[in-house]
Amino acid sequence: MNKSLKDAFGNSCKIGAAVNRYLLEQKEAVDIIRRHFNSITPENSMKFGPIHPKEDQFNWEESDFIADFARENNIEMRGHVMVWHNQNPPWLFLEGNESASKSILFKRLEDHIASVTKRYGDIVASWDVLNEAIDVDNGDENGFRLSDWYKICGKEVYEFAFKRMREACPKVKLVYNDYNNESGPKMDASIRFLSGLLDAGIPVDRVGIQGHWYYNFPDEKTLRNAIERYSSLGLEIELTEVDISVYQWSEAREKAQFFSTAPEDRKEQQSQRYREIFAAACEYPCVKNITTWGIADNYTWLDNFPVKERKNWPLLFDEQYREKPVVADIISAAEKNS
Ligand code: GLA
Repeated sequence: MNKSLKDAFGNSCKIGAAVNRYLLEQKEAVDIIRRHFNSITPENSMKFGPIHPKEDQFNWEESDFIADFARENNIEMRGHVMVWHNQNPPWLFLEGNESASKSILFKRLEDHIASVTKRYGDIVASWDVLNEAIDVDNGDENGFRLSDWYKICGKEVYEFAFKRMREACPKVKLVYNDYNNESGPKMDASIRFLSGLLDAGIPVDRVGIQGHWYYNFPDEKTLRNAIERYSSLGLEIELTEVDISVYQWSEAREKAQFFSTAPEDRKEQQSQRYREIFAAACEYPCVKNITTWGIADNYTWLDNFPVKERKNWPLLFDEQYREKPVVADIISAAEKNS
């Protein structure tokens, strides 16, 4: 049998997939994970709302299931996510009917971090401490998203989260994760933010470039430039949520295209994007993890985003869980390099 993705990359770069309980109950999905992946990210279950729905109640069930699968199969986990503007429980930002105070919110975050890291600190190798804090279009003058976290606490709460995480799980790599941060004004704002954190001695180890990309974006130069800029700050890099849409962003917004199968030329360009992404991991030792947001095209959030009920084929395995040809290309390129 040919080598697998994880064997081709060895320890230098972990190969991951986002999973949920449903996927881990599909034999075909589990076979692929065991063969090709050595990292998994819970798609939703470790987010604040799902895992901590009431102040005095945690819902560990799905995350425990995923963590046990990882432990049993000698696979590491990516923790996802501590501080984010989305999928939060209603109680978090309230004190009675009023907005919670800054001190209460810090305390709640501290307690949440303590509980969640205690349960999964053994199996999580890197953790998205902060997700999507930058919004250059609708944020404040410094480019910060006007999230509830930020409106109540300012950016101090981001620094606090990294510091508490370092104390709670000193061996875990701490990640700032975002989308669209591989180019343009958002990359500039991210670099400013991260440099500021590092200058202030805040423990950030890695930047997560989500990688919800398109068959025609990013080109190789853009990707390499992003890796070089972030690594020049001394950060390691993870590509945390990769999927390559067969639509363009403009088609997505205008709903101009609905394919019933992926067009051949776009499939080829998608393969090229995947080859370039994995080649970057071979070339740059600072790239420590590449995770796809799902496993196979039969289950992808892009079937409902940004257009509801529009089929997409963004992953490395097809709707029947068969390897796409690009997987063999990636493996043989990595082997030549090793
Ligand atoms: C963001 C989040 C992920 C997920 C995707 C959409 O990228 O980080 O957890 O919710 O959006 O599926």
